[in-house]
Amino acid sequence: MELNDFAIARAVHVLAVLLWIGGVAFVTTTLLPACRALAEPGARIALFESLEHRFAWQARGTTLAAGASGFWLAHRLDAWHRFADPGNWWWMHTMVALWAVFTLMLFVLEPLVLRRWFAEQAAHDPQRVFARIERMHRLLLALSLLTVAGAVAGSHGGWTF
Ligand code: HEM
Repeated sequence: MELNDFAIARAVHVLAVLLWIGGVAFVTTTLLPACRALAEPGARIALFESLEHRFAWQARGTTLAAGASGFWLAHRLDAWHRFADPGNWWWMHTMVALWAVFTLMLFVLEPLVLRRWFAEQAAHDPQRVFARIERMHRLLLALSLLTVAGAVAGSHGGWTF
């Protein structure tokens, strides 16, 4: 059996994406609705944050692994020209855009800005803030699923125009 660095990078990339986007799906479709059903509006955000805390670390690690392995794949494929042709390679752009959004959220906005902002807003209208958190997760999940579908089909010859 022979495993080269390209095959390993692809395996790491897919495993990282699996754990990361699978976790986003679990939070969106199961954890958030459970918090809504189990806690009063004023206690929902605190319950959600205490349960989601561990996943935030998993998401940070898998985001780093997906970015590093993705960069290595692009380097080995010499795929940089794809970014000049979004018509054929739109999923390359959505991969990087999604990665940038999650990186910004997980490493900068959530710890430095959003946590405090949510707490302040929730003091006035917890229901509205929780609904906003749910909407944001649904949107990110939908974009993630579209990206995964596009990337798998595209990597295997599905988007030739
Ligand atoms: C900086 C961020 C990223 C870079 C540079 C990157 C780069 C790449 C490259 C070069 C490939 C191989 C394409 C080919 O074989 O033609 C790939 C595959 C793939 N990427 Fe990414 N990616 C990134 C982030 C993401 C994200 C955020 C997701 C998911 C939401 C994702 C999902 C996938 C999937 C599912 C594949 C296909 C694997 C397969 O079926 O073989 N990537 N990526």
